[in-house]
Amino acid sequence: MSSRISLTRYLVEQQRVDGLIPSQLRLLLEVVARACKGISQSVNKGAIGGVLGSADTENVQGEMQKKLDIIANEVLIEANEWGGHLAAMASEEMDGIYVVPNRYPQGEYLLLFDPLDGSSNIDVNVSIGTIFSVLKKPEGPAGQNNGVSEQDFLQPGNKQVAAGYCVYGPQTTLVLTVGDGVAEFTLDREQGSFILVEDNIRIPEDTREFAINMSNMRHWDAPVRRYIDECLAGKEGVRGKDFNMRWIASMVADVHRILTRGGIFMYPWDKREPEKPGKLRLMYEANPMAWIVEQAGGAATNGKQRILDIQPTQLHERVSVILGSKNEVERVTTYHTSQSLRQPQTE
Ligand code: AHG
Ligand code: MN
Ligand code: MN
Repeated sequence: MSSRISLTRYLVEQQRVDGLIPSQLRLLLEVVARACKGISQSVNKGAIGGVLGSADTENVQGEMQKKLDIIANEVLIEANEWGGHLAAMASEEMDGIYVVPNRYPQGEYLLLFDPLDGSSNIDVNVSIGTIFSVLKKPEGPAGQNNGVSEQDFLQPGNKQVAAGYCVYGPQTTLVLTVGDGVAEFTLDREQGSFILVEDNIRIPEDTREFAINMSNMRHWDAPVRRYIDECLAGKEGVRGKDFNMRWIASMVADVHRILTRGGIFMYPWDKREPEKPGKLRLMYEANPMAWIVEQAGGAATNGKQRILDIQPTQLHERVSVILGSKNEVERVTTYHTSQSLRQPQTE
């Protein structure tokens, strides 16, 4: 069918018409999409592919790794290291940065990823995904490590040149932004390519649906508690309407629902580990999702400031996340900024 637009054609057209995507970036995005296809195949095989269960190792953040966390990380590295588009990569599953080896050509981009998001859902056959962010390597003298350092990665999210995620669910869906709105592609398995299904996703500004891990309620700070209490009060409360709740425990799947029908997602700072700003990681979870959400007309803050304006100080830095339908995110953020009580957050 000639009306079907593949990811390749979409990227070429964006490059030609809008001049938004330089050739290196276009090829890089195609390679990431190809890697996601490979991960999707492993996910689909499940137990018969021997990919389920724990790898019995820990990552730098002290989290137990699943076999698929490691497989997805390797697929992304092997697909991306030789093409000449990248200078280096960083991942949730690697302590430090991975510099493209000398035997391969060096490119001008930096790729960050959460290879497998929603690890606790792998073995129970619930949607999981991959999240990625692309930055430009700052200009600098060629030195050790081909002139790339961890410092080069520590750029605020507003410097991203591309961001996306792939959900491995009932369908395999890739969502992408290069700063000109948000496009969605579904994998056609017979044809082996991602097909454009929506090229201007918009998140409704209002919602009646929230996503938060309610089991942490007793640990929340006052503004989050207030917001959720008001949602729970429903029609009879100050909001004057009933709210629904969803929590998939895979950020990709929760964010994808919000892109599809609106909603608010929160993983806020809480008192369990007061010295940590939150659970989710700024550079390869919060930043790409925040940009996608903003590009779709939503908002994303840490309760106090726009996530995309946070200056990172560490590769694996954590952050409070409040994102989704604009008016709801602004409401929770106002509750934080107007709070004059109790202990301050650690940010
Ligand atoms: P990851 O699997 O990459 O470590 O990320 C899991 C994250 C995120 O996807 C999800 O929203 C959240 O952790 C779920 O946390 P809880 O298990 O505390 O609900
Ligand atoms: Mn994750
Ligand atoms: Mn992960």
